[in-house]
Amino acid sequence: MAIAAPILEARDLTKRYAFGDTTVDALRGVSLTVQPGEFVALMGSSGSGKSTLLHILGGLDKPTSGEVVLGGETISGLGDDAATRLRRDRTGFVFQFFNLIPLLDAAENVGLPFTIAGQDPRNGEAADRIRDVFELVDLGGKEHHRPDQLSAGEQQRVAIARALVNRPSIVLADEPTGNLDFTTGGEILEALWRSCAKRGQTIVLVTHDAKAAAYADRVEVIQDGVIRDEIVLGRRDDHAAAPLIARLAQLGL
Ligand SMILES: Nc1ncnc2c1ncn2[C@@H]1O[C@H](COP(=O)(O)OP(=O)(O)O)[C@@H](O)[C@H]1O
Ligand SMILES: [Mg+2]
Repeated sequence: MAIAAPILEARDLTKRYAFGDTTVDALRGVSLTVQPGEFVALMGSSGSGKSTLLHILGGLDKPTSGEVVLGGETISGLGDDAATRLRRDRTGFVFQFFNLIPLLDAAENVGLPFTIAGQDPRNGEAADRIRDVFELVDLGGKEHHRPDQLSAGEQQRVAIARALVNRPSIVLADEPTGNLDFTTGGEILEALWRSCAKRGQTIVLVTHDAKAAAYADRVEVIQDGVIRDEIVLGRRDDHAAAPLIARLAQLGL
């Protein structure tokens, strides 16, 4: 099988936080490669280093040592301005709390990346892209609702649409279902899944939940700041968690 150039490569990342007069080693040598179009889950318990890793992968934070190469460019060494630009152009983030702007309607929230870039999101290519992502996250007809006029699951799908609208090289999602009930969490995962299956969107999903991780092609199990195991699930239309849970049990997790 031909191997495409990876979209993301992390090499031997460490992260040490200074905390009072002690230090915390949140990452202790993490290497990871993500191919274009892959859906990868980083799974681990609370405090295992998932958010730290995701933030460093997306250039929101810098490693203490090691490097991150995104689309052939080393982001871990860039200055703040260059890192911000690369992040804006190449990555889409989804967080546990949706971070929508309350006074803007759903379409205006999704159009923010265009507005920030000085384009009018109501016309031309930007408007086409906004329409496309609303359809993808199954929110057609809700364009003019403000966040307080949407359910929690709908708000998170607006946040996903906003992350997707720029067609980023990679979407990085940190516990996007962590604040939602089971059924609503399923809608979020389905929306991310569709972006991967239908648009070839590359996704890295951080989660502590096997039911969420079961959507991925591959699960990297992170524990105490290292990747302890890799579980390859392959691309499946059914996202039953049972096979993943069985593998985790075999590994004693
Ligand atoms: N800004 C920070 N300062 C000090 N310690 C931190 C900071 N952020 C995270 N940590 C510590 O690093 C470890 C990993 O945290 P985190 O990446 O948030 O884990 P997870 O997302 O898996 O719950 C934890 O021990 C956490 O307390
Ligand atoms: Mg976290």
